[in-house]
Amino acid sequence: MLAIIGGSGLGKLATIEAPHRRVVRTPYGEPSGALTFGRLCGRDVVFLPRHGHGHTIAPHEVNYRANIWALREEKVTAIISVASVGGIRADLAPGVLAVPHQIIDYTHGRRGTFFEGPDQPVTHVDFTEPYCPQLRASLLAAAAAAGEAMVADGVYAVTQGPRLETAAEIDRLERDGADMVGMTGMPEAALARELGLSYAALAVVANFAAGRGNSAHAIDLHVIGGVLSVAMQRVQHILDRCVECHGS
Ligand code: HPA
Repeated sequence: MLAIIGGSGLGKLATIEAPHRRVVRTPYGEPSGALTFGRLCGRDVVFLPRHGHGHTIAPHEVNYRANIWALREEKVTAIISVASVGGIRADLAPGVLAVPHQIIDYTHGRRGTFFEGPDQPVTHVDFTEPYCPQLRASLLAAAAAAGEAMVADGVYAVTQGPRLETAAEIDRLERDGADMVGMTGMPEAALARELGLSYAALAVVANFAAGRGNSAHAIDLHVIGGVLSVAMQRVQHILDRCVECHGS
């Protein structure tokens, strides 16, 4: 079954049919909220809002381990993570959608592995390609089928938040090779890999990153909600097509 984790601007799936919620408990504590099970274009899916049903859980407070564990417990095999980002690269303007292909992790203090504790053997997972190539291809094919433009690559820098970055921090991320910046891509992607789940991200550019484009002197937080709500309608169309392409 396919799971969709919704980020800022995607607190629920408008097109999900016969939805029913269920609370799932995990050894790692509470997930961000009850899972919503239902059907999208005739296929079983499950939806989880990363920041909670009332959008109250900040990026550094998300219980990423509980979220990924709960999805795996419910027989999820693939996860599409929808995440809003700031655009660093010039073509990643507000409203643009992208499927990143790489991650740089700048977060700290987050519980980022299932492989710890006295009873667990030391375990390393390969993370050379952090996203599932097949699921990325499905997202790109779905965007084409939906007639929506989608940037086919990008390096996603994950910052700690919840504050936005300084312009100098964005300069540094750019020197490091980052194209976009968000706060939730890690450890989510690594935890999915540890449990053997396919995982890809659909990044929605909410704003130019600090010091870039129309954020040269400040990020106008008042316009972000509007940008995201328009973009998420396009995301919904792409998700519908993606569920069809990917199967369940
Ligand atoms: N920085 C970090 N995370 C974000 C941004 C940003 O500019 N926009 C949306 N999520």
